[in-house]
Amino acid sequence: MNYLIINGSPRRENTWKIVERIKNTLDKQEENTYDEIDLIDLKLPQCTACYNCFNYGEDKCPHKDIISPMVEKMKNCDGLIITSPVYVLNVTGLVKTFFDHLAYAYHRPCFFDKKALIVVTTAGNGHKKVAGYMDENLRNMGYNERFVLSFIHAHDGHGYLPLKTKEKTDKVTLSFYNSIKSKKLKSPDMKALFMYNIWRAMAANNTIEIDSRYWKKNNMTNSEFHPDVPCNIIKKLPFKIFYRIMLLFLSKNTVEQEK
Ligand SMILES: Cc1cc2nc3c(=O)[nH]c(=O)nc-3n(C[C@H](O)[C@H](O)[C@H](O)COP(=O)(O)O)c2cc1C
Repeated sequence: MNYLIINGSPRRENTWKIVERIKNTLDKQEENTYDEIDLIDLKLPQCTACYNCFNYGEDKCPHKDIISPMVEKMKNCDGLIITSPVYVLNVTGLVKTFFDHLAYAYHRPCFFDKKALIVVTTAGNGHKKVAGYMDENLRNMGYNERFVLSFIHAHDGHGYLPLKTKEKTDKVTLSFYNSIKSKKLKSPDMKALFMYNIWRAMAANNTIEIDSRYWKKNNMTNSEFHPDVPCNIIKKLPFKIFYRIMLLFLSKNTVEQEK
């Protein structure tokens, strides 16, 4: 297996100890390769809000030389492991800046066949909120399944992982591994269906031209969820209605441009 590790901490300390345990557990299953990216080394500037990615395509981002190779890695790996310590009750600035550059993937989600493992550590609080934020972000970009490991004080006073931390890490890592290995895609949850159908309606309404082209090209506008992901008809049913309502709403609120 080939894993991409995106380290959102500026150092390899507490959160990295969990990553090392994860790698250890994965290596017990089979031989793996790891592409390890420390976000701090990317020297990624802040998003400048040029809106090029939204309106003209991600290849028009002024920082595309840094972001495009990262997105390629995310598309090509078997599994993503992404980490952040809690900084002032949020992700680190490194992670936020990275996610800002992927905002276009909310409009044009592309990771429907991908699984991710999120790792968050904190000294005392904020870990659940931060892990939830990262989970939501990846879900909105299409990630099929996200597994979460979040810990207060990941290690003891001597730098060792406590037994409970090890046990939880191993359990969640195995679930992540088994999910990737099975090659099975999980049926989307309600939130994923909800977001999908908002963007689907916007694409069908031609709210942003490049989004419409992307959704059509990838055959994503015709059904209530991505055609490659299993989703039963009963789950889809409310979203058939929701999609129609969204279309109606958008058609009434679309501002006509003067010729
Ligand atoms: C700038 C900064 C802000 C932090 N903010 C919080 C916080 O809001 N809540 C908290 O419990 N811990 C906070 N911490 C502690 C880290 O989340 C914690 O030590 C974490 O495990 C560090 O991970 P790392 O060693 O992988 O960088 C903060 C640390 C730093 C450096």
